Amino acid sequence: MTDSQKRTVLITGASRGLGRALARALAHEGWNLIIDARGAQALEEAASELTALTRVEAIPGDVTDATHRRTLAEAAGRLGGLDALVNNAGVLGPSPQPGLLDYPLDALEEVYRANTLAPLAVIQAAKEQLKPGACILNITSDAAAEPYEGWGGYGSSKAALEQMSNVLAAENPALRVYRVDPGDMRTRMQGEAFPGEDISDRPLPEESVPGLIRLLTGDLPSGRYEARNLPASGDGTDDGREVRELRLVLTVEDFDRAATFYREGLELPIVEQWSSQEGRGLVLDAGRATLELLDETHAEHVDRIEAGRKTPGPVRLAFEVLDVGATAASLEGQGAVAEKETVQTPWGHLNRRLRTPDGLQLTLFQPAAQPSGTEVA
Ligand SMILES: NC(=O)c1ccc[n+]([C@@H]2O[C@H](COP(=O)([O-])OP(=O)(O)OC[C@H]3O[C@@H](n4cnc5c(N)ncnc54)[C@H](OP(=O)(O)O)[C@@H]3O)[C@@H](O)[C@H]2O)c1
Repeated sequence: MTDSQKRTVLITGASRGLGRALARALAHEGWNLIIDARGAQALEEAASELTALTRVEAIPGDVTDATHRRTLAEAAGRLGGLDALVNNAGVLGPSPQPGLLDYPLDALEEVYRANTLAPLAVIQAAKEQLKPGACILNITSDAAAEPYEGWGGYGSSKAALEQMSNVLAAENPALRVYRVDPGDMRTRMQGEAFPGEDISDRPLPEESVPGLIRLLTGDLPSGRYEARNLPASGDGTDDGREVRELRLVLTVEDFDRAATFYREGLELPIVEQWSSQEGRGLVLDAGRATLELLDETHAEHVDRIEAGRKTPGPVRLAFEVLDVGATAASLEGQGAVAEKETVQTPWGHLNRRLRTPDGLQLTLFQPAAQPSGTEVA
């Protein structure tokens, strides 16, 4: 699929927190991304992670700045228009938050400029780029509706954004316009709102993402939604049980060797990596995942074809590749050992069984019809 055939979303404020989590999830689904944030370095870091997955236009700037908004709209034009626009960027205002009787009005103006006027201004700037049936998602808050003490500045800025979204939906029935409360999330903004408090009990922003994706990709009517509490569809297809990814988690003895083996041997892009005193981790994008279940008899049958013997253990990795021979050579260069020469299987694949340096059984397979320089034994 070319970039212009893919869906495109503009997400403001995607260098961290909810915006980054949503951008990552949509990148995995193959959307083109246009993202921004004021801090160029954090945005660049986010972009370098996401670029491994999809096309990303990362444009540093402030949504309150008209020139920046025009640049965002131009990027949308370059990508063939927007399927979705997510107004996520927002600010809390002074912390700790003052009561309304003492709220400095110049600070309140800044909060309104970022949380209320800028989202509308981004929509106005990009309106020519919205494709028919496009979706606008404005991130609001429960503070828009509840009279929490100290939340009058931020809360009223979000309340105004809610009503703007409401009217926008009425004025533009061809668009889906959602105002969405993401729920409390463990992000920098939440930390600023409760300075000095332990916020580790708040859910990660990733937990609000499935609801946002359901709004972006579904057909729920315009309106106000809570991201973690969307109505059930009734047809059982999107009630939250739909599996979005199969992830295989390997515990490895030599982390660097294993990382190099899979990343370089198979050219797998990095989705996420971390390192702390609790240890290191790495998530690699390995394409589509499926779960194959075999009874013991059939597992042994496959072992004998591919490896010439029954191999131990209940888990075997398998990767569909374009060229079994070239990929096997690359992995063998990283320390894999062939169990047997490449075989043509009775089910019409070219398969090669390898043993990884960690001792896992790994099958490379290629539908036989594809071109290959592989010698078939
Ligand atoms: N966290 C919560 O519990 C919670 C609850 C309800 C609603 N929300 C809403 O959820 C949204 C995301 O919040 P979050 O918790 O993920 O916040 P966050 O961690 O502070 O992230 C905010 C993002 O927006 C960017 N941003 C802020 N002001 C901007 C501006 N003027 N122009 C461009 N980018 C800007 C930030 O980067 P820079 O600072 O570098 O610009 C950052 O990328 C916000 O609309 C917030 O009001 C959050």
